[in-house]
Amino acid sequence: MKAILNPFRYGRAVSGDQYYDRLAVGESLYRTIAGGAANVVLYAPRRYGKTSLVKNVIDKWSEDGFTCLYFDMMKMDSVERFCEKYAAAVYAAEKGVDRVVRTFGELLSRLRPKFTVGEDGSPSIELDVASRKFTPSDLEDILNLPEKVAKGERTFVVVFDEFQEIAGLSQSLPMEGVFRGCIQHHESVRYVFLGSKTHLLKRMFSEHSRPFYNSARIMHLEKPPEDESRKFVTDRFSSAGVRIGAEEVDKVLSLSQNIPYFIQALSSEVFESVIARGGRSVRPDDILAAADSLTEMKREQYETVVGELSSAQRSLLSALAASPTNRFDEAYRRKYGIGPSSTVHGALEKLVDKGHVEKTAHGYFVGDPFFARYLTALPYEIVTGK
Ligand SMILES: Nc1ncnc2c1ncn2[C@@H]1O[C@H](COP(=O)(O)OP(=O)(O)OP(=O)(O)O)[C@@H](O)[C@H]1O
Ligand SMILES: [Mg+2]
Repeated sequence: MKAILNPFRYGRAVSGDQYYDRLAVGESLYRTIAGGAANVVLYAPRRYGKTSLVKNVIDKWSEDGFTCLYFDMMKMDSVERFCEKYAAAVYAAEKGVDRVVRTFGELLSRLRPKFTVGEDGSPSIELDVASRKFTPSDLEDILNLPEKVAKGERTFVVVFDEFQEIAGLSQSLPMEGVFRGCIQHHESVRYVFLGSKTHLLKRMFSEHSRPFYNSARIMHLEKPPEDESRKFVTDRFSSAGVRIGAEEVDKVLSLSQNIPYFIQALSSEVFESVIARGGRSVRPDDILAAADSLTEMKREQYETVVGELSSAQRSLLSALAASPTNRFDEAYRRKYGIGPSSTVHGALEKLVDKGHVEKTAHGYFVGDPFFARYLTALPYEIVTGK
């Protein structure tokens, strides 16, 4: 028997019929970069769909003739590794252009580049970083590659995902300063910066003392409009021959807090359970069972996180799970027994730094709605440690 294909996807960037909405912000991002007005930094809490959005917009820029390069900083563990990978990515974006090899050879002669092609045909470049100390001007040479290769004849769009990671990449080189110093002179390259640790990215671009201060147009990716999410969930179920009623869709949206990743994860789980019982339509109890099973799958991970928190952090996290807020006034603090303002702010900063709590203009909330669900079900003694 042929398995029925699950119509939901999560865990990596999506496109095509897996992708919905984002039209307004996508259009604005597309135009700002295509029109050359400014570089862009895009903020959004985790799993709102930043990477998917930007990859979909990259397709449009590519159709317009821009040379596009998507670069994920997450996998870079040193500045040398970044340089090799970035050089290879610029090279790959321009492969087939004869003069590029020559240009690379000349530009990077000090680093004695060795070009190789992997089995999958993807180029890689090895740089001689072992035989002498890596300097800021080596880094500049690498960062200037797209500008030099473009030579005013074409325009590059470079997207750095998880850009906040550059801050911790090198202890010995002033990475942020060198980066900003180079790219501000680029005329043929436009940049988009995004990342999942919003608070770190925000600090980079909005603190006076940081090199990237005020250097890019700030854009926010919000949650999708609820009607669009409803339509998406209904249509995806229906595309696989499963009916879901309006109330059940609303339940999916409320349990997933209308966050794209969790909408798809929960819907996927619901779909599996309906198919497993040979059904063709979603029942209300399917949704709660799927939410329980998603929470259960991550129980160990959640337990570890909670176990590593101080009791002030734990109480605050549980309070936010029950009731997201912008104001930790006395009534709120008393209701949840979370101590004085100073304790709350210290704990809050830690929770945001660790990525358990997100902040938007609407307030602070636990970023993973299933973690919030787990926390609200915890016994009082575990939350307070009393
Ligand atoms: N526009 C969209 N339409 C449908 N599903 C989406 C959309 N955007 C994101 N998703 C869902 O969310 C998941 C995560 O998307 P993506 O990786 O783009 O988010 P992100 O904000 O970059 O996440 P992270 O913060 O982890 O980097 C996708 O695998 C998909 O399930
Ligand atoms: Mg991402």
